[in-house]
Amino acid sequence: MHEPHRTRERGSVMISVVGTGYLGATHAACLAACGHEVVGIDTATDRVERLSSGSAPFHEPGLDELLSQGVSSGRLRFSTDPAAAEGAAVHFLCVGTPQRPGSHAADLSALDSAVTSLVPHLVGDALVVGKSTVPVGTAGPLGERIRREAPAGEGVGMAWNPEFLREGHAVEDSLRPDRLVFGLERDRDGEVLRDVYAPMIAAGVPVVSTDLATAELAKVSANVMLAARISLVNLLAEVCEAADADVADLTRILGLDDRIGPEFLTPGVGFGGGCLPKDTRAFVARAEELGVAAPAAILREVDSINMRQRARTIDLAVRLLGGRLQGRRVAVLGAAFKAGSDDVRDSPALDVAATLQARGADVRVHDPKAGDNAARAKPGLRIAPSVEDAGDGADIVLVLTDWDEYRAIDPVAFSEVVRTPCVLDGRLALDADKWRAAGWDVHALGRGGR
Ligand code: UDX
Repeated sequence: MHEPHRTRERGSVMISVVGTGYLGATHAACLAACGHEVVGIDTATDRVERLSSGSAPFHEPGLDELLSQGVSSGRLRFSTDPAAAEGAAVHFLCVGTPQRPGSHAADLSALDSAVTSLVPHLVGDALVVGKSTVPVGTAGPLGERIRREAPAGEGVGMAWNPEFLREGHAVEDSLRPDRLVFGLERDRDGEVLRDVYAPMIAAGVPVVSTDLATAELAKVSANVMLAARISLVNLLAEVCEAADADVADLTRILGLDDRIGPEFLTPGVGFGGGCLPKDTRAFVARAEELGVAAPAAILREVDSINMRQRARTIDLAVRLLGGRLQGRRVAVLGAAFKAGSDDVRDSPALDVAATLQARGADVRVHDPKAGDNAARAKPGLRIAPSVEDAGDGADIVLVLTDWDEYRAIDPVAFSEVVRTPCVLDGRLALDADKWRAAGWDVHALGRGGR
């Protein structure tokens, strides 16, 4: 058997990264920063051109710097040609696995095409490592297919190494992850991955080596836990409202319990983005295929509580507007699914804005980073260039993404801009006392009149 095509000097490994979206572009740049020789491969010419010039086609703090350092060092390049992967010792699969249209299951077609384009170039011993989020049971058959079709045959290993990065913190999460998960079929593949992640392992990042199936399940299980936690906290908010209790105080009390902790305890308009919603649905679809029905009941409820938060936000806004939306001016602050990102996929903020507009309101949306993406996703929505423009003459202000910029709004000055100083804080982002002192009527789900 050949030695893998690895450049041993300086601990540098030759790596290809197939798929250069949020995950792949960040992964490629971080691997180059670790000293490896990396080529990122993508079918989208414009994306490859942009990345080759050292700039990310999306907003991700710190990524442009890392890309331009990598590109100018010569260790990082991008190509649309799958042949550029030839000779690499490790190939990471980083393509998207979105929700399949008309179904709750994951769409694996991009993964399938990525593998089809890669296999002819697996001419020497190499390791193919999946990072995409997939239904459990994908990696095993994929490895068999790769070995069947690749010129190097049995010399190709298959591993799964899920990525847990959060948008908006992708660079930090990739360089300093909480843990590294290696799903392995052969021990020696673990050694290759240890070489790839050597600087992080040396810095103390724990490694959990396991089988392929457990590694595949790790990512989706983490997301299901987080989604369930957010929906549970949103359920508590609904009960708080009915009982005239305060969910902000309640979550503070819960967060101080060491066993519970303070993260992912913020109620509001609910979770969105490219991961939590589709992973929760795909987990249910896969569990049902595996004959396990129980997760379906609880996770369908997690999903429906989450969607209900959007409806409850709209209902509260309508109530605060006296039951009439027609011709009322609504300022929506936030379009991204969360702060720190320009991603509007399954964004609760954008969903609420579009629904209010469809029901007759005159909606103006502001977002510090996601304005262009919001305009593309909802061409009928009016995107305001500043918070003041969005708020101009507004009958109500909805804060639906937790940007620091909104926390920093001066409520005194802003009250001069709007028609009615009434704000619905859909992310518990504002200092309610300060806004009230400036004359605002402040509302939030789960806080009653507080
Ligand atoms: C998530 C996982 O955190 C990450 O590990 C995985 O790799 C990809 O999916 P991401 O989608 O970037 O990351 O966002 P995350 O920070 O997890 O937030 C998800 C959604 O939950 C956002 O819409 C956010 O606003 C919402 N959220 C988060 C809440 O509503 N309340 C909270 O307390 C926390």
